[in-house]
Amino acid sequence: MSNGRIPEEVIEKVLKHHDIVDVVGRYVHLSKQGHYMKGLCPFHSEKTPSFTVTPEKQIYHCYGCGAGGGAIRFLMEIEGFTFIEAINQMAAEANLDLGIDLGSDTPSQQNPEKTKLYEAYEFTGKLYQHILKNTEQGKQAMEYLRSRGLNDKLIDTFGIGYAPSNWDTLAQLLEKRQYALPLMEKGGLLSARQEGQGYFDKFRDRIMFPIHDWKGRLIAFAGRAMGEAQPKYLNSPETMLFHKSKSLYNMHLARPQIRKLQQIVVFEGYMDVIKAWDAGITNGVATMGTALTEEHTDVIRKQADQVTVAYDGDSAGQNAAYKSIPILEQAGCLVKIAMIPNAQDPDDFITHHGSERFVREVIENAVPSIKYKLLYFRKNFKLQEDGEKLRYMQQALKIIADITSPIEREHYVRELSTEFRYSFETTLQNLNEIRLQAEKSSNSGDNKAKAWNNVRNERTPREQTAVSPNQDAERQLLAIMLHDRDVTDYVKQNLGDQFNEDAHAVLAAYLYSYYEQGYEPNASSFIAMLQEEELEGLASSIAMMGNAYWINNQVVDDCISKIKKYKLQQLIKQKTEEMIVAERSGDLKMAGQIGNEITSLVKQLKSS
Ligand code: UTP
Ligand code: MN
Repeated sequence: MSNGRIPEEVIEKVLKHHDIVDVVGRYVHLSKQGHYMKGLCPFHSEKTPSFTVTPEKQIYHCYGCGAGGGAIRFLMEIEGFTFIEAINQMAAEANLDLGIDLGSDTPSQQNPEKTKLYEAYEFTGKLYQHILKNTEQGKQAMEYLRSRGLNDKLIDTFGIGYAPSNWDTLAQLLEKRQYALPLMEKGGLLSARQEGQGYFDKFRDRIMFPIHDWKGRLIAFAGRAMGEAQPKYLNSPETMLFHKSKSLYNMHLARPQIRKLQQIVVFEGYMDVIKAWDAGITNGVATMGTALTEEHTDVIRKQADQVTVAYDGDSAGQNAAYKSIPILEQAGCLVKIAMIPNAQDPDDFITHHGSERFVREVIENAVPSIKYKLLYFRKNFKLQEDGEKLRYMQQALKIIADITSPIEREHYVRELSTEFRYSFETTLQNLNEIRLQAEKSSNSGDNKAKAWNNVRNERTPREQTAVSPNQDAERQLLAIMLHDRDVTDYVKQNLGDQFNEDAHAVLAAYLYSYYEQGYEPNASSFIAMLQEEELEGLASSIAMMGNAYWINNQVVDDCISKIKKYKLQQLIKQKTEEMIVAERSGDLKMAGQIGNEITSLVKQLKSS
């Protein structure tokens, strides 16, 4: 399906040879409860189990964080495997000959150089920690850390260490332990002397901050100079383990809390993350001396819906925060920006004002991206002057025009008009003109037909609230379709792609094609074929919905009619809004036209 490279027979074959209870059971303690097994979710932190495995359907689902899928997805999530890596691993375990070569994308564990390097990093991290905590050499570094407000517990939590000033402390120890030194150089721990004269330590006389991948494996270091040595932070180079543009500092410790809150805080500096952790913000990560990349947002988006950007208060930090907004929003994140006064960074703020004020005034007070953009632009205008004021209004309305929610738009229009003492109506009219203009010049706009491909981008934050009656009907229908080919055919004829939720429409489309290819109803192999985390999570939650076997045709018809009605209601709402906009902008002809459309829609609704 989404990955054309792996034949579906192969997926089925692999799944047939693994029981999900065994696969999951290696990582999670499961206890039996009626039809299913329960345990503590490995993907978010919890005290009461909401992670369930259904042997009968061969799927797992967590009611707490929404993770879910089949055995393949589970391995991908817990081991960080790619799809192919997971398949290869499962095939190898079951001694299966898949009959095809899936390519070189084999588990990273099997690369001996990588394995050695992980080991060397682990060893080096421990060594630096030991030197910091237990030796005379580490004393000054310890004093430095104390002066920056780090206690023993924080130092341990973050594995902070000290690289001594000698040239070859590490080089010698690595050699003694028979690590290949050229590999250690390639891996960023050592530097080569000139012309084959051996190796010396890359990091000397620096406080060492270990950097881990999300699974907690040490993959790099940042070494901070204590004096004026440059650079202030020496980071490990790009290696086979470490890719700066993908890595986020502290992801491994923050991940459970990030998943739990569905929220992540992004900082600029290592120290900011550590001090914020101490202040109780345990869902914080940092980029490493680079701007936020799309690769970062991919990682972020997999863990959380909401992002708070908490960069330094100076202009460099604020510019970087501004630039991060579209990158994050394009990935479908809900973005807030924390503002720190007086050009301080989070670490400074906590040091001067304490944890409680940091949480309350900076983190909890973060403003929505729109508000931030308005504030950000404001600085460029001398608002005492009338001309500048008008220019700012125009700029601000352009920003507001982009907002999709009418209520939110109205909120900002009201704020703006009140502040600058224009009437609300005039300001709104001005806004509507800008919107009409923008609509005309954008030829594509919302393409409903393509919306299917956009689930990822369109996805709204996971809502903890109850599902709406429409969502309920759509899910119930999909649950039945998962178990029944005939019902699926019937829905295809009578509803097709008319699901109101994009993600539901996508699942339906996949189900249509699944049965068309001649497969029998089978939730776990269907889910495995989706090969997309979010869809698998959704499909597994639907598959877990009580048993749909008792259904009769009446239930199916009821669902279909509810869904269609909802669609009409939404259309009427949308048209009504358009009519109001047309009226307010004085286009009465257009308003009349839309009015007629609405009347006919209402008729349709009544007769349905
Ligand atoms: P800052 O200069 O703001 O450092 O750089 P900081 O976080 O406040 O550090 P302290 O408090 O002085 O110790 C922010 C981030 O930019 C990267 C690091 O990731 C740092 O945390 N950076 C900075 C480097 O990679 N190299 C440098 O030389 C400086
Ligand atoms: Mn700082």
